[in-house]
Amino acid sequence: MKTLRKPDEMRAWSLEQKRSGKTIGLVPTMGALHEGHASLMRASARDNDVSVLSIFVNPTQFGPQEDYREYPRTFDADCAMAEQIGMDAVYAPDADAMYPANYVTYVTVERLTEGLCGRTRPIHFRGVATVVAKLFNAVLPDRAYFGQKDAQQCAVVRRMTRDLDFSIEIIEMPIIRQPDGLAMSSRNRYLNANDRTSAVALSESLGKAKALMDAGERAAANVVGCVHRALSGVPGLRVDYVEVVDAEEMTPVERIGGTVLLAAAVFIGKTRLIDNIKYKVPES
Ligand code: PAJ
Repeated sequence: MKTLRKPDEMRAWSLEQKRSGKTIGLVPTMGALHEGHASLMRASARDNDVSVLSIFVNPTQFGPQEDYREYPRTFDADCAMAEQIGMDAVYAPDADAMYPANYVTYVTVERLTEGLCGRTRPIHFRGVATVVAKLFNAVLPDRAYFGQKDAQQCAVVRRMTRDLDFSIEIIEMPIIRQPDGLAMSSRNRYLNANDRTSAVALSESLGKAKALMDAGERAAANVVGCVHRALSGVPGLRVDYVEVVDAEEMTPVERIGGTVLLAAAVFIGKTRLIDNIKYKVPES
């Protein structure tokens, strides 16, 4: 497995693959890999002639009070996992290669980034859209793999890809969970034993809301209320948001129809966790 550190080195490698007629899959990550990332890499390795894992803890998507410095960095273990799955290259630029001195260019996706995580993390999606555009330009993938775990990010990346005419297929993969339902996340490493016990309430609360929708509830406020009730009183847990939004536009809905996203974020101690379910109203 090849390691590439600079955008022009990465592009030269990809152009060589393309010249020999190979398709390229890209799995963008910030490292600290777990089974969620592994599922994306397996899909890429299966669907493409060659696959690239990118590992870059992207400073522009972290707010000043957020965990950029503490974010876990486990490069050797990440490479071992990628190699074992059959990835062909790791693109791991350092921050100076991505954002050289006097860097001033950003990609802003409007509207879709206003609610949900965008409200608490105002610069987050600008950083994500910018770095993903830069990764696309260096890796030149035919397909790029993202997880529904970050559903708003998927919607933002899909829209950016379309609006900026990238000729790349965006593939959204299901959420991989622990046996008790907790969505896998690199940030789960921050949780102590008590936090971990409380954390399961997040996926459980969404499960209760799904049961309510399955039973015919169509008022978004009642579904949101159900999640809040399930989360209230959980030790150490504070709700950031619970919202029902249109699954593509990320704008709030009052009535549940078509396909909606029920998304929630909570703080457990200082750790912020997100989870969601997509719900498609069955056709009657
Ligand atoms: P990171 O948090 O490392 O996640 C990389 C990819 O793995 C994302 O597409 C994310 O949705 C997916 N993923 C994480 N947990 C998952 C789970 N439990 N099941 C399925 N997929 C999961 O998301 C980022 O990095 C960054 O914002 C990035 C896109 C790399 C831009 O910097």
